[in-house]
Amino acid sequence: MSVIDDVKDRLDLVEVVSRYIQVKKSGRNYKALCPFHSEKTPSFVVFPETQHWYCFGACTEGGDLFNFVMKMEGWDFRTALEELAKQAGVELEPRTPAQEEAAEEADRLRGLLAAAARYYHEILCGGPEARMARDYVERRGLSDETVNRFRLGYSLPGWERTSTHLTDNGYRVEDLLEAGLVIERESGGVYDRFRDRLMIPIRDGRGRVIGFGARTLDPEDVPKYLNSPRTSLFDKSKTLFGLDMARPAIRRSDRVVVVEGYMDVMQAHQAGYENVVAQMGTALTDAQLRQLCRYTKRIVLALDADAAGVQATLHGVEVAREALDREWEPVFDPRGLLGYEGRLGAEMRVLQLPGGMDPDDVIRESPDQWPRLVDDALPVVDFYLQVLLEEADLQDTKVKARIVDELLPIIRAVSNPVERDDYAQKIARTLRVDERAVLARLRSSTRGQRGIHRRPWSAAGHDSDVAPPRDEQPDELLEAHCLSVLLRRPGLRSRIDGLLQERGLDPIRAQDFGRVSLRAIFEAWDRLLDRRPTCSVDVLRDELPADMHPRLVELCEVDDARLGDDQLVRDVVVTLLRLRQRRLNQLVQDLKMLMLEAREAGDARGKQYDQAHLANVRKLLKMQQALAASREMA
Ligand code: UTP
Ligand code: MN
Repeated sequence: MSVIDDVKDRLDLVEVVSRYIQVKKSGRNYKALCPFHSEKTPSFVVFPETQHWYCFGACTEGGDLFNFVMKMEGWDFRTALEELAKQAGVELEPRTPAQEEAAEEADRLRGLLAAAARYYHEILCGGPEARMARDYVERRGLSDETVNRFRLGYSLPGWERTSTHLTDNGYRVEDLLEAGLVIERESGGVYDRFRDRLMIPIRDGRGRVIGFGARTLDPEDVPKYLNSPRTSLFDKSKTLFGLDMARPAIRRSDRVVVVEGYMDVMQAHQAGYENVVAQMGTALTDAQLRQLCRYTKRIVLALDADAAGVQATLHGVEVAREALDREWEPVFDPRGLLGYEGRLGAEMRVLQLPGGMDPDDVIRESPDQWPRLVDDALPVVDFYLQVLLEEADLQDTKVKARIVDELLPIIRAVSNPVERDDYAQKIARTLRVDERAVLARLRSSTRGQRGIHRRPWSAAGHDSDVAPPRDEQPDELLEAHCLSVLLRRPGLRSRIDGLLQERGLDPIRAQDFGRVSLRAIFEAWDRLLDRRPTCSVDVLRDELPADMHPRLVELCEVDDARLGDDQLVRDVVVTLLRLRQRRLNQLVQDLKMLMLEAREAGDARGKQYDQAHLANVRKLLKMQQALAASREMA
C-alpha cells in the first residue's frame, strides 16, 4: 500500500472536513455550505462510503481528502502529504539529502527575511530617522492599520545599517547575500541593497516574507521601485503580491482582481476590497494564474489600459522602454489570455480604468466607484473589440478589413468552437460586414494552423495494440498510462490538447488524474515545463517527495518505442475520454441518489440536483459521442 493510501485509510474525510466547516448528516451523506465559493444553500456533499467530496454548486468540482486540504489550506502536494501523514501517524521516507539541504536553507532564509522585515517595520514606526518616510506614508493615504497589516517598513540611508544590524543578531553574511538583502562589493565585503526606501514585504501564499519591494521617497530617484532579486525563495513571475491576505476574500466573493502595483493592492485592501492582488509590474504568468485558479475561476484584470498601449500591442509593436527605471514591461497579450481561459477553464475579464488613473488613484478619489468598475469588466475579446472600434472609421472598408485581420488571430485563440463562432458573428455585426465571409475566414485559417486535423484519429492500429482492453482496467492504470506518455514524450502534449479541443472538449487538466499521487506528478511536471520547456524527468524527481520516486521510475520505464507518435496521441485521447466518461457516470449516479433522498425528505434542493443531473447527463452523452467517434476513426 502506498503512503497515500495509508494516510487516507487512517483519516476520515468527514472528520477532517468538519474541522473546517459545519457539516450536517443527510441520508447516507453529509452536506455543507461549500467552503470554496459563497452560497446560501448547501451544495457541498461528502460521501463517507467512497471518501470523496463534491460541490454541485458553482464549483462542480470534487476530490478526495488530499484535494480538499490542498484547496482549503492552499498547500502544495508535498505539504499536504507531510501534514496529513503527521496527523495520521504515518512515517514518510526521509527527504533526499539534496531536498533536506534545500529545506534547511529555505527555513534559514525565511527566518532572516522575517527578522529584516521586523527591523524595517520598527524603524518606520518609531525611529527618529524615519520621519520623512512616515510623512510619505501619510501623503499616500495609508493608515496606521494598513502599515501594520502589511508590515511596511523603512530602510535607513547609509551603506551598512541593515547588514550590521542583522549580522550583530547572529545572521550570516552569506545568507544575507543569498536572500538578496545585500550586494557584494568588487573589492570584497557587502553593502545594503535597500537604502532610504519604504520597504514593502512580499509574502508567499502562506504569509511568509520572501522578498521586498522598496519604493524611493524621492521623486527624482530611479528606479522608483527596487525589488529583491530572484532568489531560491523569491521568483517574481510566480508570486502575487497580497495573495496571502486576499485569499479569504477571493473565496468569499468568488472573484479576484489583479492589479499592477503594490500601492493599488494596499489602497484596495484599506478600502475594504480585499480580493485584490498584484502581479508586480511583470506580465501575468501561467504560474500566477494557476495559483489564482485554486481559489476562483473568475479573474478580473485591472490593467493600465490606455488605448494607445493596447493598440500598439495589437499591432505587434514593441512598446518602447521609455525610461531606464522600467526593468519591467506590462504585457497585453490577448491571445495569451484567451489561451489561459481555455487551458485553465478560467473566465478572464478586463476592467477599464478611467483615463490615466491606476486603481490606487481611483480608490483614493472615490472608493465607491470600485465595485462598479469591477462589475463592468468585459470579457477579453469584447474588451479588445471595443478598443479597436473606438477610434476606427467604420465608413472605410479598408479600415474594417484591417480590424477583422487584427481580431481573427485573437478569436482563434478561443478554445470553445461555439464561442469562437459567436465572436466572429459579433464582429461581423458590429462592423456591418458579411457574417459568412468572416466565419469562412475564421474556419479556413483554424484548419490551416492546426495541421493535425484528422490524421491521428485515422492512424492505423487498435487499442489492443497498446494494452489489454481498456474497459476493464481500473482508473489508476489508465491514468498512469496517460501520465507515462506525457512524461516520456512531453512534445505530444500540444497535439493531444489540440485533438481534444477540436472536439470541443477541455485539454488535459489536473482533474483528469483522480489518483492524487498521479495528479501531483502531473502538476509538478506541468509547472516545470512551463519554466523550462526542455527539462528532463530527473529535475522533476527532486520536486517530488521521496515516497513518490519509485512511482515516477515505474512511469518512466514503460517501453513503447515501437509505437508511433500518431498512435500514442490517439491512444491517450481515447484513454482520457474513457476516464472522463467514467467520472461523469459516477457523478450522475451520485446525483441520482441525492435526488431520491431529497425527494423523500421533501427537500427543495431536489431541484438543484435535478438540474445538475441533467447537465451532467448531457455532458456524458457528448463524451460518449466523442469516444465513439474516436474509436470509429481508429
Ligand atoms: P507603477 O509605475 O504603475 O507604480 O508600477 P505604482 O504602483 O503606481 O506606484 P506608485 O503609485 O507610483 O508608488 C506598477 C508596479 O510595477 C512594479 C512595482 O511592482 C509597481 O508597483 N515596478 C514599477 C517595479 O518593479 N519597478 C519600477 O521601477 C516600477
Ligand atoms: Mn500609482
